[in-house]
Amino acid sequence: MTRPRKLYVKSYGCQMNVYDSHRMADTLAPEGFVETGTPEDADLVILNTCHIRENATEKVYSELGRLREMKDAAAQEGRKVTVAVAGCVAQAEGKEIIRRAPTVDLVVGPQSYHHLPEMLARAEQGKAIETEFPIETKFDKLAPPSRATVKKRGVSSFVTVQEGCDKFCTFCVVPYTRGMETSRPVEKIAEEVARLADAGVREITLIGQNVNAYHGEGKDGRDWTLGMLLHRLAEIPGVARLRYTTSHPRDMDDSLIAAHRDLAALMPQLHLPVQSGSDRILDAMNRNHTRADFLRLINRLRAAQPKLAFTSDFIVGFPGETEEDFQDTRRLVAEVGFSAAYTFKYSPRPGTPAADMEQQVAEDDKNARLQWLQCDIDRLQADFLAKSRGTTMDVLFEKPGQRAGQIVGRSPYLNSVHVMAPHSLIGEIRPVAITDVGTNTLFGTLVHPHAAEPMLAEA
Ligand code: SAH
Ligand code: SF4
Ligand code: F3S
Repeated sequence: MTRPRKLYVKSYGCQMNVYDSHRMADTLAPEGFVETGTPEDADLVILNTCHIRENATEKVYSELGRLREMKDAAAQEGRKVTVAVAGCVAQAEGKEIIRRAPTVDLVVGPQSYHHLPEMLARAEQGKAIETEFPIETKFDKLAPPSRATVKKRGVSSFVTVQEGCDKFCTFCVVPYTRGMETSRPVEKIAEEVARLADAGVREITLIGQNVNAYHGEGKDGRDWTLGMLLHRLAEIPGVARLRYTTSHPRDMDDSLIAAHRDLAALMPQLHLPVQSGSDRILDAMNRNHTRADFLRLINRLRAAQPKLAFTSDFIVGFPGETEEDFQDTRRLVAEVGFSAAYTFKYSPRPGTPAADMEQQVAEDDKNARLQWLQCDIDRLQADFLAKSRGTTMDVLFEKPGQRAGQIVGRSPYLNSVHVMAPHSLIGEIRPVAITDVGTNTLFGTLVHPHAAEPMLAEA
């Protein structure tokens, strides 16, 4: 039996990294690694990095600076700390990371995580680097989590169903860091979801860089759509809620739109990044749809499921964006009435076409536009939350709240809801009457506080 060693994993960036971090920890568990919540007592530190914007990448290098001091201090006490860089910076920069930060022992790209145990052995002798896209699929090789680990991670879980992207938006590094689009087979996903549900997970969020481009092999040997996959997963006992993210407007096909109408377990919230409301900019971004296409899609989705709320991502200050283009974006935001959105300043990424475009927008203009747009969106978000007051919604309880006797859960729209109720309700879905609205959260009371029957199904 090997001595237990401590592992600290820090995730940056998107949900794919959160999922991958868990799978790395699961794969290292049989090697004797136990997770710890702080880097100070760790024998192995993994930074699972993001390359999407310049500041995301820079964050990693400043963290590596701190880790170097920690590693040196540990070495003085005769303790060896191994530092690994995983994720999209690892894929994009490879051995350049070790040149810039020699404290790093191991660099591993997103498609090679199943090689970690063997790479750690190699890192004992020198630096270990892997940024290939191996043929075998890592999903078959990565170890699943134990039942106890699943329970510890909570009642809501991510499952990667699709990875990579072939869309090549002109601003984006993802096609270079995550490679070509691939989908996992339906039954492999169903097995993973069944295992999670059996250990108490109630809500599954299917994730992928382009999740609705999903086309995994079904039992019948054919390619299944995401809509078909959702139907299959909704049959699994214990699965009460399904979500998926992130989608591309071009890949919302009829089966997926119909799933929003037909599947009670599919939550009425959809993250659909549009990036800009200007046709000129959408074209320069290579998004392959117009503003009118997007609005038509929103209408079709609303017709299929009137309860749907939409969230999105926006980039301001893309090269060539004029004040008028920007006002088109603001008008689109108002027209759709998003319930929330992320806004980003365009960040030129090395190797992407937009980084070399002329007419880069001045930093001051980017800052001003970001503030205007954020302000519009904050107002929409406040309106959306305010409308919940006085309504009753199903809440999936996730964890104890900060106040004694309080528990916290999520509404169908992913807003947190605080309720005074016993801890025994964690993992259950109950109707809650919303009594108060905070800036980001809701407060309410149980509608049937004494109901004896557990209620799993959504109303
Ligand atoms: N696959 C998803 C998004 C992945 S990246 C999609 O197609 O929409 C998440 C978000 O980061 C993007 O939606 C975009 O708004 C933002 N983003 C990506 N590259 C960026 C860049 N170079 N500068 C600023 N924001 C960027
Ligand atoms: Fe990036 Fe575009 Fe692919 Fe999304 S669809 S990951 S923004 S290239
Ligand atoms: Fe970042 Fe890579 Fe995700 S660049 S957003 S961690 S796919």
